[in-house]
Amino acid sequence: MNRPAEASALAHSNIAFVKYWGNLVGDLRLPYNDSLSMNLSAAHTTTTVSFDPALASDHLSIDGNAHIGPALARVSRQLDLVRERAGIQTRASVASANSFPMGTGIASSASAFAALTLAACAAAGLSPSERELSCLARRGSGSAARSIPGGFVTWRAAAEDAESYAETVAPAEHWDLRDIVAIVSRQHKQLGSTGGHDAATRSPFFAARIAHSPDDYQAIHQALMDRDMARFGPAVEREAIALHAIAMTGDPPALYWSPETLALLHQVRAWRDAGLPVWFTLDAGPNVHLLCEARHADQLETELRRLDMVETYLHNRAAGPARLIQPDAPAAS
Ligand code: PMV
Repeated sequence: MNRPAEASALAHSNIAFVKYWGNLVGDLRLPYNDSLSMNLSAAHTTTTVSFDPALASDHLSIDGNAHIGPALARVSRQLDLVRERAGIQTRASVASANSFPMGTGIASSASAFAALTLAACAAAGLSPSERELSCLARRGSGSAARSIPGGFVTWRAAAEDAESYAETVAPAEHWDLRDIVAIVSRQHKQLGSTGGHDAATRSPFFAARIAHSPDDYQAIHQALMDRDMARFGPAVEREAIALHAIAMTGDPPALYWSPETLALLHQVRAWRDAGLPVWFTLDAGPNVHLLCEARHADQLETELRRLDMVETYLHNRAAGPARLIQPDAPAAS
């Protein structure tokens, strides 16, 4: 490799309806339980990777800001996996841009590591299958495995690296479900998800959640297949609360909710009592993902605009798979 070899990719973040929380094998990010998600149209990362023989070390910029330290080290480890497969040593420059604030409960690491992995593989001259890409993206961030395939996605728990990958269970067109993410805080979370996965396994309730997970998965998967919001919403909400119960009782405990988060969770119940069918889910952060069918989305947006605690919101439909793009191409969903 004498000249820089470059490629760009776009990947959507995803919201899990059955969530991944806790690793069986931490280094490999092999999860304890199967998870199920939807790619998010308005939350995406575009990343350009350029392997450049003139570089002495890897470089990283996110949203125009140079990063060193742990963020760069994590990206370099991911690049090492790609370099190892491609048989190259060349260092790379990585430029990444998000369409949404990082570290706020919208899984920036999912879209980031999916886009990074796809762009790095292409720039290194590799063309892995979707399955291999998903396994590789998983090594950077578990949920990134689910941002490789399109639409509604399942990620299987397995004890072997090559067996724990994600795949589409239904295309984006299957159900016009909306996820309106209400941003109530832009603060970076105190316990990142890598530490969160570890702490959670020391919750006295962890084993109970994992034992219950196949039943939750089955119920939520079936409701998704049937496009049945009346079964889907309550089961997803309960599953999210279970994750937070584990986080709150982990060692160390993690309290991801802000006062605004809790106020909004009560508001969701009040909306339902008033006849607006909306349910919530949350990732490891304070912002609230509001789930409704397309026909109720306008009303929900009107309600959200009335709330002072909601700074802004991000309106998502189901989105497609990670894909290669031309550098500087507009980031359409
Ligand atoms: O991919 P990670 O390590 O950032 O974990 C994400 C975990 C949750 O977002 C809380 C749940 C999930 O399945 O996406």
